[in-house]
Amino acid sequence: MAHTLLIVHSYVRWLVLLAALVAIARAVSGVAAGRSYGAADAKSALFFMIAMDTQFLLGIVLYGISPLMREAMHNMAASMADAPTRFFVAEHPTFMLLALVLVHVGRVLTKRAELDRAKFVRSAVSFAAATGLMLAGIPWWRLAAV
Ligand code: HEM
Repeated sequence: MAHTLLIVHSYVRWLVLLAALVAIARAVSGVAAGRSYGAADAKSALFFMIAMDTQFLLGIVLYGISPLMREAMHNMAASMADAPTRFFVAEHPTFMLLALVLVHVGRVLTKRAELDRAKFVRSAVSFAAATGLMLAGIPWWRLAAV
């Protein structure tokens, strides 16, 4: 179960990153072209947020059932002293929580902006910052492990 969930969590990463890329590209091209903010822009932001929320929930469940995490919880002091374990116990969830907050805040700020240009700029900045955090918090060294 935990292994299956880890594989799902691993693959969903690509969906989240693709959704992020599309949402950022739409926001940047919107500013560059000076066009109005439309339904497709709002949808791409919504899809990014849903993908992110889903991955976050999968991560929380994985945190609870992963053998790696169970082992880590047994001896917290040793886990925090071991860099790869500490990464999954503390750093990975923290980076992802910050990224999640940025996506949600970014969507709210985008909705509240009155000018189309401001909507695009707010989306572009918040989604790019969230994606930067996400990229920094992904365990790329495990790419070939699953
Ligand atoms: C929302 C964005 C997130 C992304 C893009 C993401 C991505 C990933 C990736 C790529 C892996 C490595 C999978 C592999 O080894 O192939 C991983 C592992 C893991 N993630 Fe996430 N994650 C996210 C959120 C979270 C959250 C919020 C938590 C916990 C609260 C979490 C907990 C874990 C754990 C515990 C593992 C390692 C499990 C194990 O090796 O048994 N993730 N994550």
